[in-house]
Amino acid sequence: MGNIFSDRISDVPRSFIRDILKLTVDESIISFAGGMPNRDLFPVKEISAATGRLFAECGKDILQYSTSEGYPGLRQWIAARYKTTKNLDVHPDNILITSGSQQGLDLLGKTFLNEGDEVVIEEPGYLGAIQAFSVYKTRFHPVPVDTDGVDTARLQQALSDHVIKLFYSVPNFQNPSGISYSEENRRSAAGLIEGRDTILIEDDPYGELRFRGSGLSSFYQMVPNNTVMLGSFSKIVAPSFRIGWLVARDEIMEKLVIAKQASDLHTNYLGQRIILQYLKDNDIDEHIEKIRTAYGKQRDAMIEAIGECFPEEVRYTRPEGGMFLWITLPGNLPAMEVFNKAVGRKVAFVPGDPFYVNKKDVNTLRLNFSCVDGDTIRIGIKRLGDVLKEMI
Ligand SMILES: Cc1ncc(COP(=O)(O)O)c(C=O)c1O
Repeated sequence: MGNIFSDRISDVPRSFIRDILKLTVDESIISFAGGMPNRDLFPVKEISAATGRLFAECGKDILQYSTSEGYPGLRQWIAARYKTTKNLDVHPDNILITSGSQQGLDLLGKTFLNEGDEVVIEEPGYLGAIQAFSVYKTRFHPVPVDTDGVDTARLQQALSDHVIKLFYSVPNFQNPSGISYSEENRRSAAGLIEGRDTILIEDDPYGELRFRGSGLSSFYQMVPNNTVMLGSFSKIVAPSFRIGWLVARDEIMEKLVIAKQASDLHTNYLGQRIILQYLKDNDIDEHIEKIRTAYGKQRDAMIEAIGECFPEEVRYTRPEGGMFLWITLPGNLPAMEVFNKAVGRKVAFVPGDPFYVNKKDVNTLRLNFSCVDGDTIRIGIKRLGDVLKEMI
């Protein structure tokens, strides 16, 4: 049989991280490679109780088809949360419940991108966004991010040299680097986007996981007409629900709802109802505080161990929240070579390569600190430090 597959799917690479994770299933390997929340913090009992209560009280109602936009009660809850956490006025009608924020990215690609359309992506950038937009045969313009945020000179250049349809941004505790845009950086980036026909995608799955410093302004506050905001319950409740959302103005919502209908009619209704019941019956702030405290301690253990065990020339970010930190190796030492050696010494991470759209053999890597306790972090970082000392 010849090539039966569409160009759209043939040209998109498999997830490199999934392939790498296969190498790290060996239980004796300490893995900083995953990108998952800590399973020990899932509110198992509370979700179980909310589910029982919901079935007892609502029975058949919760097993029927529902609306494409999402359950109104959940959309109202999300709008109210924006008001209390960010003082943002968002109308529930402008919220679309999605199957994880990952589906939000796919729907945005479907809604905005023709073949060859141009997208600014952060460098390094979220692998899932690179994959989602690649399906629409987009052209990427990577713009570097550093400890202060996005490189605004490069952003300006991309915006003036090309017709940029989308600018994809993770301004809080970015995946993979852990960096956050400073307030000034956000204002400059927003200023560059304002008045253009460019949509700024503000993807914020980690914003609530801040364990240091104070919250910063949202792009949605600064340039609401240009911004589509994405959110998710994956990191603050549990990812298996696959429930996220996006916030967009009326005209964009209308098109996104059509894209959503074509994809899956609506997001899992039972899951939406269970999450809402859980949120009503429990104090989510108390739960998020538990996550913040645990991740904050694990982040501190990792930073401290890196300071003690890594060669001095290695640079690293110091995230104030989220789940990741980012390492830059000296010279041109490819992180992939370090990975091959490190796995032999029973420690794993994700080499930086998949987070770039057009670079290979990079000298950067991602470390996850959400899933490993402090003592294990110290042992794993010591193992990695020994490998690095041999190679640098
Ligand atoms: C930046 C970013 N956006 C989106 C997602 C997708 O999250 P979900 O689909 O579980 O909401 C992730 C997951 O790790 C992420 O890191």
